Amino acid sequence: MNSPKTARKGNQISAVGMVLAVVMAFIHLFVQGFLSVTAVVVLVVGIVIGALAGVISAVKVKMTDMPQLVSVFNTVGGGAAALVALNDILTTDGTPSLVVLITAGLGVVIGSVTFTGSLIAAGKLQGIGFVKKMSLPGKGIWNVLFIVLTIASFVMLCVQPEQRLLWSVLTTVCALIYGLVFVVPIGGADMPVVISVLNACTGTAVAMSGLAIDNVALIVAGALVGAAGVTLSILMAQAMNRPLLSVLAGGFGGGSAASGDADGPSGTMRETTADDVAVQLVYAEKVVFVPGFGLAQAQAQRELADLGELLKNHGVEVSYAIHPVAGRMPGHMNVLLAEANVPYEELIDLDDINPQFSSTNVSLVVGANDVTNPAARRPGTPVSGMPILDVDKSQNVVVMKRGRGKGYAGIENELYFQDNTQMLFGDAKAGLQAVIAAVKELIA
Ligand code: TAP
Repeated sequence: MNSPKTARKGNQISAVGMVLAVVMAFIHLFVQGFLSVTAVVVLVVGIVIGALAGVISAVKVKMTDMPQLVSVFNTVGGGAAALVALNDILTTDGTPSLVVLITAGLGVVIGSVTFTGSLIAAGKLQGIGFVKKMSLPGKGIWNVLFIVLTIASFVMLCVQPEQRLLWSVLTTVCALIYGLVFVVPIGGADMPVVISVLNACTGTAVAMSGLAIDNVALIVAGALVGAAGVTLSILMAQAMNRPLLSVLAGGFGGGSAASGDADGPSGTMRETTADDVAVQLVYAEKVVFVPGFGLAQAQAQRELADLGELLKNHGVEVSYAIHPVAGRMPGHMNVLLAEANVPYEELIDLDDINPQFSSTNVSLVVGANDVTNPAARRPGTPVSGMPILDVDKSQNVVVMKRGRGKGYAGIENELYFQDNTQMLFGDAKAGLQAVIAAVKELIA
């Protein structure tokens, strides 16, 4: 999973692992004599529905909508873990031991928070109207109130196991409400980090449920997802220069997408044409492509790769600058460009490409906005502190985007108003096709 080259195989191995786990669960239940006809029917129907939903969504959902899909998977995973743990608490013969109560109780708490939190996160990212509009006056108070209520019911569950129906239902309800009040106030621009945190929670809930029911496969799979989710959350928060702890406290990021830069950059944008861009590219020695979310939106990765090939064959040095949070999920640009067969060696990370911009003749920014905004170097803007690609230091900059739309952070990009920047307005795919045609004509 560490490199785009081998990630596909990593996913295939994971899929085989999941199939094995399901088959082994069947064998395990059969050997233990748990498999009645009803149980087999329920399991088979569940597997068919789950597998169909998984395959259809994996095929249909666009790359740009992947964070929502991950969030829906978190909802299902968290909910399932909570149900398994709840079932264990309520159906154990006699009084459950303290260890079972603690592990299963944690599974219920974390799984329930993940369930409702992920539902809201998916709705926000999908732009579902009423979910986006949800607000919570006095958000901090509700957060504290429901954390306290959840912990109190959980403690009572451990202290009074004979009343476990009452306390486990209360724990579940409080945790479900906490999931809502935790995610509702968080702004859209920070939602991918929250999804990653919730992903870690899903894993932890599954591992806790595994501990409660003594299932090694659940413990291992849950711990793996939990550890990977925590690592990813930390890396994403670092890449965006956001404190992760504030995410966990809830309500961070709210409004950062909406709050614009009141002053805004001064000056005007200079427009250019595909023919002019072609001339600049063909006569350049060194060109850096800077892909962003707009490239993914336009599905123009193949056109960008074709342009790269044309220029390279003409003797121009071409590389691709990859910002860690360009796009809408970690590794988004790597995956897109790998799909278009761009050699992995040509994808250069932020730290390595930034010193190269001053010796770059032309930087071609395709649908990237926030990750190139020099405003990030100043305090007091919604992107302040986020590491950026130093595109503005190139000799010439060409920006391809549809119009004057803002980026994810909702602010104007100062790069677009610089003297060395020219704007090629239009859809990235159509724009790149026009540039490719013009380059071919020039080279011929
Ligand atoms: P954005 O800042 O979102 O900007 C994308 C730009 O693409 C927009 O300004 C838009 O302008 C343009 N665009 C959209 N559709 C287009 C099309 N069909 N053709 C051409 N241009 C198009 O993207 P970015 O620079 O990649 O930055 C990513 C943002 O997401 C950052 O703010 C980052 O913090 C946030 N984020 C990312 C992640 C991860 S892990 N990737 C996680 C959390 C948050 P027009 O409307 O004018 O075309």
